[in-house]
Amino acid sequence: MEKELVVCKIDGIEIFCENDWTIMKAAQTANIQVPALCYTPDLSVVGSCRICVVEIEGETILQPSCSTLVKNNMVIYTHSEKVNYARKIVLEMILSQHLADCLVCDASGECLLEKYSYDFGATGKMFQKAQFNPIKHGDLPDNSLIKFERTKCILCGKCIRACNEWTHKDALSFVDKGEMMRVSTLYDRSLEDNGECIFCGNCINVCPTGALWEKEAAGKGRFPDIRKIKTICPYCGVGCGIEVSAKGNSIIKVRGDMDSPVSKGRLCIKGSFGFDFVNSPQRLVKPLIRNSKGELEETNMIDALIYIKNKIDEIKRNNGIFAGLASARCTNEDNYIFQKFMRSVLHTDNVDHCARICHSPSVSGLNMTLGHAAMTNPIEDIDAIDCFFVIGSNMTSTHPVISWRMIRRIKEGALLILVDPKKSPLSKYATMHLQLNPGTDMALLYAMMKIIIDEGMQDTDMLNSRCEGVDEFIAEINKLNLDDMIQQTGLDEGDVRLATRLFAISGASSMYYAMGVTQHVFGTGNVVALADLALLCGKIGQGPTGINPLRGQNNVQGACDMGALTGVLPGYRSVDNKADNKELSELWGADLPEKKGLTLNEIMHEAAEGNIDFLYIMGENPVLSDPDSNSIIKALEKTDFVVVQDIFLTETAAYADVILPATSFAEKDGTFTNTERRVQRVRKVIDPPSKDMLDDYQIIYRLAELCGANWKYNSWIDVFEEIRKAAPIYSHIDPNKFDDKEFFWPGDILGDSVKRLHQGEFSRGRAKLIYFPLPEYPYKATPSFPFLLIIGRLYEHYHTGTMTRKTKGIEKLQSEPFVYINPKDAIKLHIKDNDFVKLISDNGEIELKCKLTLDVKPGNLYTTFHFHEAVANKLTNKRILDAQSKMAAMKVVMVNIIRK
Ligand code: SF4
Ligand code: SF4
Ligand code: SF4
Ligand code: FES
Repeated sequence: MEKELVVCKIDGIEIFCENDWTIMKAAQTANIQVPALCYTPDLSVVGSCRICVVEIEGETILQPSCSTLVKNNMVIYTHSEKVNYARKIVLEMILSQHLADCLVCDASGECLLEKYSYDFGATGKMFQKAQFNPIKHGDLPDNSLIKFERTKCILCGKCIRACNEWTHKDALSFVDKGEMMRVSTLYDRSLEDNGECIFCGNCINVCPTGALWEKEAAGKGRFPDIRKIKTICPYCGVGCGIEVSAKGNSIIKVRGDMDSPVSKGRLCIKGSFGFDFVNSPQRLVKPLIRNSKGELEETNMIDALIYIKNKIDEIKRNNGIFAGLASARCTNEDNYIFQKFMRSVLHTDNVDHCARICHSPSVSGLNMTLGHAAMTNPIEDIDAIDCFFVIGSNMTSTHPVISWRMIRRIKEGALLILVDPKKSPLSKYATMHLQLNPGTDMALLYAMMKIIIDEGMQDTDMLNSRCEGVDEFIAEINKLNLDDMIQQTGLDEGDVRLATRLFAISGASSMYYAMGVTQHVFGTGNVVALADLALLCGKIGQGPTGINPLRGQNNVQGACDMGALTGVLPGYRSVDNKADNKELSELWGADLPEKKGLTLNEIMHEAAEGNIDFLYIMGENPVLSDPDSNSIIKALEKTDFVVVQDIFLTETAAYADVILPATSFAEKDGTFTNTERRVQRVRKVIDPPSKDMLDDYQIIYRLAELCGANWKYNSWIDVFEEIRKAAPIYSHIDPNKFDDKEFFWPGDILGDSVKRLHQGEFSRGRAKLIYFPLPEYPYKATPSFPFLLIIGRLYEHYHTGTMTRKTKGIEKLQSEPFVYINPKDAIKLHIKDNDFVKLISDNGEIELKCKLTLDVKPGNLYTTFHFHEAVANKLTNKRILDAQSKMAAMKVVMVNIIRK
């Protein structure tokens, strides 16, 4: 339809709109509220409930405003007598089929049916009440997380559409016709057993009544009893907006925030249900000090901090070595204060965090090629992409809400080139799935670049006007042998050629990648090759095209921005750059280390050798998350004094000399920065369960003062104001304006957020094409270790499971670790489904159950690192590190598998 400007009049107000707007949309722009039951923004419109009808001058029949387009000079009445009476009739008809036990309904107070019945005077007495029918109204078999009461269902169909259009699942549908029509699952099975439901909770969020509800929230509090606070999901880097309902000091339920520009109401299972950990009785509530008998004894916060301070003095007197790990789970303010404490009070640059073992190659690789190490584009740019190139990312598990947006775009016609050694739920949407040999990404990328150059598909304008190092780079690529590279990947040359052409000639092509690319000892080379490919084809710095590292944890981007990385000061300034160092030392009023310190893997190596005297770990669990778990335990045992600050007594805290109880995300104020560089406000929902628990930054602030620092922070806002000075990329962000504005870093000269990086000019001026020599393929089968084990993540669990594994419903769905094997290999080894097996690497061994699947290729195995019962990182090692980023080989390890 060709767009035209039209004018209409709604309730006497003249509204200028476009001819493809509905009356509902036009009314909303003038702040005129029209009731709606089957309509929700961002779901398809069905126009079935008829509650939104309006009167149009000159027409005898009332029209549904959600599905009727405005016309020029249309005159509309949204609340005329005729309209209100029609709404009352509609509601009476619905109520005749509805149990209406509002007195005991969890939704009472927020149920739209209840609200509109009150607004339009519908009582449910106009028509005869329908009899209860066990087939139509009876409950479905039970499940762990969702309560579905069909007596309350008004057949609006929004749950079905949310399941299908938001989550791309078909768990729910209408069955039967006429009087017997109802919402059900395939064969009326439980949501848990129907093979489709992934318990995202999105159906609950759109349900206008209490028909769908969180099982654990049922009976815990109705609308007048609860407060609702908007904050940010504490799990992955997508940073979905959540609305938390709390009663007293307990979280009752969590729903997607419909106003969140990131997620628009959508959540995955972790965001919707993974909150039992906050109210868990296992929370650390008192500081603990290990006594002379080696037992942990409770104390209060001030005594614990004095004890630590005395130890710090002793270690300083003895010229001992300090080191610290910050946290990608804590706020920007927590991380900023942590690294400031390490550098300005303990005078060490031995400060790092788990970004070192996820996206440090992105930091090194993108900085050297482009000048900024972050996603180049906002998530919303997905809606404008023609060809997605997804490599090394299991994003339906790790970044579900981003993956669903991408799938929606693919359903609209965009292409997907998926590069992943294993099949994943994304495979079924892939135009091409290149199931390459694990760890051969660089060979594939160079092969693609050779094809581009051979076939003349490079973007000469981009290369000539915006890049440097082009001729040298092309000369190196020309020397490579295409057959050798293709052979290394195990792919078909025709497939690689076709994928290359699709990527190079599609209008807006864009790359998305994660740890399948970075967690290798040649991780920086992989990232640089991705940037080279994007530059070569001009698929970056031009509109929605770009290169997008999907950051794993909720605030890993922010922790990096805050300088919680070895050698990196806030705002990516350098410890060893004299001007940066001077500026920060003046701001902090203290001398700072001038040389780069030890990275995470180096700290742990030195600690295991007995060369670290004091290790401060804030909100990390390296015993499970870091490579070579046994050596991490050795490092903790050999370090003279270990402080762990966390919300639980983790596998790592068990080795600490002092354990400090911190508040969780729900008990603190501050900011997180999501994967797209968006800085978002985290809001306190409840009080921590004990007065001895403080926000992470407050604990460190008090310790710093005991150590003689003269810091003045009355709240997180004071810390943020200092961050604005220390990290110029944050200088435009006003901490008092999060309610009114979206903030991304960096800002431009007018102080506006820059959503797309590198438009017009790259952050480093000209982008640099860099050739990293192709490494020899490191994952070669040997008689002792014939299998290649890939380590990844599950949709249901997060990181080391400290939070998700405390939610009963989630734990019931995924309660134990598995290793996945191809049936061909299983038959050879006489392994059956659910058999116990032993995985053995040259570093360690673990025991776990085995599952047969065609998702992994013969010769490959797959497992995850969430479970303390089988610590996958006992198998990995950190003997060799990536030269630039110091990343260890954590994604793939050679193993043997033996049936127990
Ligand atoms: S929880 Fe998600 S997947 Fe399951 S029925 Fe609801 S919308 Fe569908
Ligand atoms: S369960 Fe809720 S969302 Fe689904 S059709 Fe019934 S009332 Fe509508
Ligand atoms: S996608 Fe990530 S941020 Fe969004 S709800 Fe799931 S875990 Fe939370
Ligand atoms: S909201 Fe318009 S017909 Fe239901």
